[in-house]
Amino acid sequence: MATAKVTVSSTSMKGASERAPEPTIVVIFGASGDLTKRKLLPALYHLEQDGLLPKSFGVVGVARRPLGDAFAKDMGEGIVEGGGVEANDPKLQRFLSLVKYHAMNFDDPNGYSGLKQALAEMDKQLGTSGNRLFYLATAPEYFAEIIDQLGAHGMAKPEQGTVRVIIEKPFGHDLDSARALNANVNSVLDEEQIFRIDHYLGKETVQNILVFRFANGIFEPIWNRNFIDHVQITAAESIGIEGRGPFYEKAGALRDVVQNHVMELLSFVAMEPPISFGSAPIRTEKLKVWKAIHPIPMEATVRGQYGPGTVDGQQVPGYRQESRVDPKSTTETFAALRLEIENWRWAGVPFYIRAGKRLAKRATEITIQFKQPPLLLFRDGAENSKCGIEPNIISMRIQPNEGISLRFAAKVPGTTMQSCPVDMNFDYATAFGVSSANGYERLLLDAMIGDATLFAHRDGVEATWSLMTPLLQAWAANPPKDFPNYAAGSWGPAAADELLARDGRQWRKL
Ligand code: BG6
Repeated sequence: MATAKVTVSSTSMKGASERAPEPTIVVIFGASGDLTKRKLLPALYHLEQDGLLPKSFGVVGVARRPLGDAFAKDMGEGIVEGGGVEANDPKLQRFLSLVKYHAMNFDDPNGYSGLKQALAEMDKQLGTSGNRLFYLATAPEYFAEIIDQLGAHGMAKPEQGTVRVIIEKPFGHDLDSARALNANVNSVLDEEQIFRIDHYLGKETVQNILVFRFANGIFEPIWNRNFIDHVQITAAESIGIEGRGPFYEKAGALRDVVQNHVMELLSFVAMEPPISFGSAPIRTEKLKVWKAIHPIPMEATVRGQYGPGTVDGQQVPGYRQESRVDPKSTTETFAALRLEIENWRWAGVPFYIRAGKRLAKRATEITIQFKQPPLLLFRDGAENSKCGIEPNIISMRIQPNEGISLRFAAKVPGTTMQSCPVDMNFDYATAFGVSSANGYERLLLDAMIGDATLFAHRDGVEATWSLMTPLLQAWAANPPKDFPNYAAGSWGPAAADELLARDGRQWRKL
């Protein structure tokens, strides 16, 4: 058990010198949205605090509203609210002096000409050499338009400098739209310029799945169908839709988190060892996992929608009562799936997935449940003990309380052979003395460097949409009759328990 304090930089997977980005201007489209204030600017500021930003650096927020200098002020408030810095800190003030704003409509060609000129001016003042990192944080319907306009204005492949583009999720809303967006984006940009972001890949604990599996000798030999009974992945949130009614009505749980975040987690748990920790080998192995997933039958799916209930002692409304939500909405706020990966390693091992809003608590966790020993030598003792027999479990806590634990049986002190399950626990905060960075720091830095290892690739996005689209279509063709079918603050609809009970299994209590 690691208990020693270790001083590590949260972003330094390679040596800092190998990961120094070139001078860059980060241009955020859709900058008046919540994401920029709550995540992106705080992440950039933390990179600055850690000395990881280039010396020549600037940020430009782009959105429709004429915000002017109020933008930098607002961003400063967001950074302070995030914690760890006072409003009058001179370093923060210096950072904010590099934050500019450009008001324009995303479909207005003049806006792009003006932006191009403003960026050229900044290059002269800051020495940013024409390098750009465009971040598309707008509503998804603007992604293609913005990229087209950048191309038309010579901003996608300029004569001077490096241009990279981060595209926020959702990348498409089904297979056809994802393919169309890929075609559109790839007609203007080379694949090496495109960074399809999934912030889960920036989380330390998600990257640690690979370290746990491939930097240790003892787990990989048992990481297969011979030893593993089944795998569970839970992405439970206690929050509701947080005022995002119009977005969520069109999305639902399957599109919002399963197609992307949960599928990424699954690929890390299930992939073969890559030949190196590089972008192409990792993407290749992830893709092989998704392609090996057997089409998911409707009987192996469960959908749900929350009704009113109690979360953290507070009475909360049902989904249909949320603002800007159809009172007869059939959008799912919960999804559970049982799937199988048909390859040599995993044949016959079910993977159970569940994700939902307004569940009993916030917990993203992966449970690897091992098979029982071939002979239960201590059955009598276990049956007489108050704990009973439990299989070995490795549980990876992605958030909160980030860490990993191993459950095994131990002898209860005394004169009989009674056993009880106990947990050996690794806790990130205790072991390393640092709290996990917001995933955006790592990903912004990687994109500035041009390292796409932790970003989604064209083929991967299409592979996960290929799995989800038939389910979405089947669900749309058969509207649910029982919504709302779980109370806010519960663990989801009863059918999700039945999905496992059919196989003689149950969800792990989190
Ligand atoms: C986002 C979804 O991608 O991920 C949100 O749109 C969800 O609905 C969020 O709440 C969860 O992210 P995290 O990092 O809080 O687990």
